[in-house]
Amino acid sequence: MNEVLHEIPLVSDPNLLTSLGEDAGIYKLREDLAIVVTLDYFNPIVSEVYMYGQIAAANALSDVYAMGGKPIIAMNIVCFPSAEMDLSILKEVLRGAADKLKEANVALVGGHTVIDPKEIKYGLSVVGIVNPQKILTKGNFKVGDKLILTKALGTGIINNALKGKMVDEETETEVARSMATLNKRAVEIAQEMDIHACTDITGFGLAGHLYEMVEESKDKGIKIDSPSLPLFPRVEEFAKMGLIPPGTQRNRKFRGEKVEFSEEVPEWRQWVMFDAQTSGGLVLAIHPDKVEELLKRLHEGGVEKATIIGEVIEEPKGKIVVE
Ligand code: CO
Ligand code: CO
Repeated sequence: MNEVLHEIPLVSDPNLLTSLGEDAGIYKLREDLAIVVTLDYFNPIVSEVYMYGQIAAANALSDVYAMGGKPIIAMNIVCFPSAEMDLSILKEVLRGAADKLKEANVALVGGHTVIDPKEIKYGLSVVGIVNPQKILTKGNFKVGDKLILTKALGTGIINNALKGKMVDEETETEVARSMATLNKRAVEIAQEMDIHACTDITGFGLAGHLYEMVEESKDKGIKIDSPSLPLFPRVEEFAKMGLIPPGTQRNRKFRGEKVEFSEEVPEWRQWVMFDAQTSGGLVLAIHPDKVEELLKRLHEGGVEKATIIGEVIEEPKGKIVVE
């Protein structure tokens, strides 16, 4: 969408603190207060509708957390095939989302529903607040910074295998639980330390979102140590079988030339770098002297999958190098 928008004249306002490429829009109200605005919605990705509601809410809130904000109010976005589907299904979706909002301490203030002849779609628009001095952005990192990823990768590949009924219940539950986990705790812990940059990993996959970080930073690159990437169980198995979802294939087509793989990186792991994530984790950039302390605090705070996955490099600029 941003590529298209760049050709259209938009209102510029000095109080608008973010570019269109950021996770959420931030607008300054006072020197010490800004609002954070975002929205996200999608089709069901799990069979259980209550869980779908939880995941959709966690996903919509994530862009506020990724910018260092505190979400405060939200509105439902609902597309529902009311002729084909029983309203009790919608009720379960909304109940799942409401439980997540409660956990996040976010008030639901309304919403909008349209009849969609095809399929249910659900999500939320979210408003948060942030101190303008404490905004986290994508590209503000320094050469030598270490990168931490806070959730495992592979939701696209697992959800694709799920459609073919190939996933065991245990794996399905683990992935669903991860997608439904708020990025709240991770960002709270990160903000206790001096974080340089942050983004959340969603539809463009790890490589796509890392590229956004590099693009925002203008003059740096990123190196990823691919064997260290935290993966959900069976991602390797399914990726080796070629169960690569269309979104992941699109990501590779879109950003493939920005990523340089060394010869040792097997094909299946290359695909993981592009796997389209739903409600994925955060990537946090921090000074190398502080990374172990942050990792320890994340693990102690319940962000168990947090892992150091790479670092910021000087050359090649504007590229992701994967070893
Ligand atoms: Co985002
Ligand atoms: Co988003």
